[in-house]
This record gives sequence, structure tokens and C-alpha cells, in this order.
Amino acid sequence: MKIVSIVGARPQFIKCAPVSREFRREHQEVLVHTGQHYDPEMSDVFFGELEIPKPDYHLGTGSGSHGKQTGECLLKIEEVLLKEMPDLVLVYGDTNSTLAGGLAAAKLHVPVAHVEAGLRSFDRTMPEEVNRVLVDHLSDLLFCPTRTAVDNLRTEGITKGVFLTGDVMVDALEYNRGIARERSMILERYSLISGRYLVLTIHRPSNTDNRKHMENIIQAIGECGLPTLFPVHPRTKKYLISSGLWERMPGNIITCEPLGYLDMLAAMGSAGKILTDSGGVQKEAYLLSVPCITLRENTEWVETVEAGWNVLVGADRKKIEAMVKDFLPPGEHPDLFRRGASGRIAELIGEYGNGV
Ligand code: UD1
Ligand code: UDP
Repeated sequence: MKIVSIVGARPQFIKCAPVSREFRREHQEVLVHTGQHYDPEMSDVFFGELEIPKPDYHLGTGSGSHGKQTGECLLKIEEVLLKEMPDLVLVYGDTNSTLAGGLAAAKLHVPVAHVEAGLRSFDRTMPEEVNRVLVDHLSDLLFCPTRTAVDNLRTEGITKGVFLTGDVMVDALEYNRGIARERSMILERYSLISGRYLVLTIHRPSNTDNRKHMENIIQAIGECGLPTLFPVHPRTKKYLISSGLWERMPGNIITCEPLGYLDMLAAMGSAGKILTDSGGVQKEAYLLSVPCITLRENTEWVETVEAGWNVLVGADRKKIEAMVKDFLPPGEHPDLFRRGASGRIAELIGEYGNGV
């Protein structure tokens, strides 16, 4: 069976690594990198560390408005699909590259498989929510990481082709956590003491495009005084520099370039707490048993909040300060995310190809 897989942004490289490894055991994969993320530390580093095969096509789309970025990806993916004529197109997550891949395929009557189907924040102001709803509605195979995701799809009338596979990011993490422990020198590099520092990531437009939110988050962390490793997403860095907040960064916040996956796993794994507005980082915090303070009003990973290991604080300065000081998850840590999703997904795609 021949599939075309579409990736383009950081979390998609991480998600595709284990699936690609499994799928290529028996089938042919043509890998397309849209170029949505292009800085070496947002793209190349993951291909190297995670041993992801070199993309067969690099579309060089780059940054732009939603319309420009999605439109350019759509146009170029269509050309690839017409040339390759795959049996199926595989898309990941909820980025503009995901939407463009799904749409290009559906219009050419090529079946679409969606990894991380069914997630909902129920917040249509998030570009990701629009992307994931649309892609789910045009997908033939929907691979859900959680029961909640399956239920969300049912509520929208989608029941055919839906599979509760578990989460491919668990496979990526399990495969790499030992390697990260052995190879990463991130704690030494920044003189961090295990359990006595925070990790911070911010990149959601709801925070990066809002001065009050960015000020609140940074001031709250400055106030707590704990060493805080802050790998800065390029979008966030641009905003921090243009707004003047970069020069006034509190002394306990250690800014650095975006980290490779191994350094990121090592940094998160030994952190006292993680503060983030990332989807993937919330889940990884849970898998690593590190308390997570989520800088959003909602989350797609509701199970982590229900389990008491994740707390939603938005960009409320007082709440952030209080949670950095006092947030204490319960003793229990249920197994929320099934392992082995990548193998299951490869198998299900194979069965679909055989008409099983
Ligand atoms: C995108 C996804 C988001 C995902 C995130 C993962 C969409 C709508 N958003 O957000 O769902 O959580 O990736 O990180 O698809 N930039 C660079 N270098 C790069 C990449 C980006 O400088 O390699 C800067 C550019 O100024 C760009 C901005 O970051 O305009 C935003 O990049 P973009 O890919 O549009 O969205 P993200 O915020 O990265
Ligand atoms: N990540 C990384 N380096 C960083 C920040 C994040 O390797 O400096 C990883 C993180 O561990 C997770 C993924 O990138 O696996 C999450 O991507 P991101 O936060 O960009 O997007 P989201 O998950 O919110 O879509």
C-alpha cells in the first residue's frame, strides 16, 4: 500500500516518527514536509534526533497569514498527490498543514486518515479548532487518542471509521526517554537542579498576541523567583522583542532557543512544574508525572485536568502565582493514554488498504 504523509510543524515531526517507523515495515510511505516550520531548531533537529526519513518532497511553504499558508500548502500538496496517486493520505493534529493535506486529498477523492482525531477545545477562536473539526469531517479513518475524542466525534455524528488507538506521542516519548536521559546535558548546561526549576513554553496566539497576557505570565513567574527554563518559540520571540518585554525579562527566567526533543524531554522530566499553553507539552507533563499549569482557559486534554495533574489558569497573574507555589497533584496517576498507537494505526491503515 502506498500512502502520502503530510507533516509541516514541530509536533507533527514528533508524532510521525513512531508511525512512520511502524508503517514502513510493510508499506510504502511518501513523506511530504510542507515547510510550515523551517528554522533548523523547529524542523531539522527532529528529523535527525528521531531518525525520521528525509522528506520525499519539501514544499517550502513557510510563514504567512492563515489563508496564504493554507492556500499555498493546498496548491502544492495537490500537485504531489496528482503525481504520486497514493492509496491514502495521512495527516496529523490540527495545523494549517493538516487542513491543507486533508482538503487536497478529499477533493481528489483520495481517502484521508487523521491521527489525533476527535480532540476539541470547543473554542472556535483557536485556528487549531477550525482545522481539526474540518479535517475530522472529511476523514475516512479517524484515529482517536482518548475515549473523550471518540465521544466528541459521535456528538458530531461521526461514527464510521473511528478507532480508539491511543496516542502516538506516548510511543515517541517511551522510545526516546531513555535516550534523552543518557544523552541530554540540558540540566548541566543551564545549572538546573532536578525538581527545583520550572519549564515554560508559550506559543498560542491567545497569549502571544495579547500584551496583558504575556506581561501577566512573565511577571507571575518573575515573582515566584524559581529558575525557569523558557525555550522560546520563534513566534513568541518576535512578539517579546517587538513589545520590549524581552529586555525586561526577570532574572530567574532563562531564555533559550527552541530545544530539540531529547533536551526537551530531559528538561521536562526533571522539572518541578511545567507551565505551558502547548497541547503536546500538557500531555507529556502527565506522562512524565510532572504537575502542569496550563496557561489557557480550556484544553483538549481534559483527562489530565480531571486526574488532578493539570490545572487551567489562563493568563491570570494571581492564579499562576498561587499554582506555582501550591499546586499539588494527588497520589494516584491513572494510565490515561494507551501505548502502542503507532503500531495499531499502521495495522488499521494496512487493513483498510486490503479492504478488510
Ligand atoms: C503552528 C500551529 C499550531 C501548533 C504550532 C506548533 C497553525 C495554525 N498553528 O503554530 O497549531 O501548535 O505550530 O509549534 O497551524 N516562525 C519562524 N520560524 C519557523 C516557524 C515559524 O520564525 O520555523 C515564526 C514566523 O514568524 C511565523 C510564526 O512563527 O509567522 C508562526 O508560525 P506558524 O507556523 O504560522 O504558527 P505557529 O504559531 O508556529
Ligand atoms: N518541544 C520541543 N522543544 C521545545 C518545545 C516543545 O521539542 O522547545 C516539543 C514538545 O516536547 C512536544 C511538542 O514539541 O513534543 C509540542 O509542540 P508545540 O508545543 O510546538 O505544539 P502543540 O503541541 O501545542 O501543537
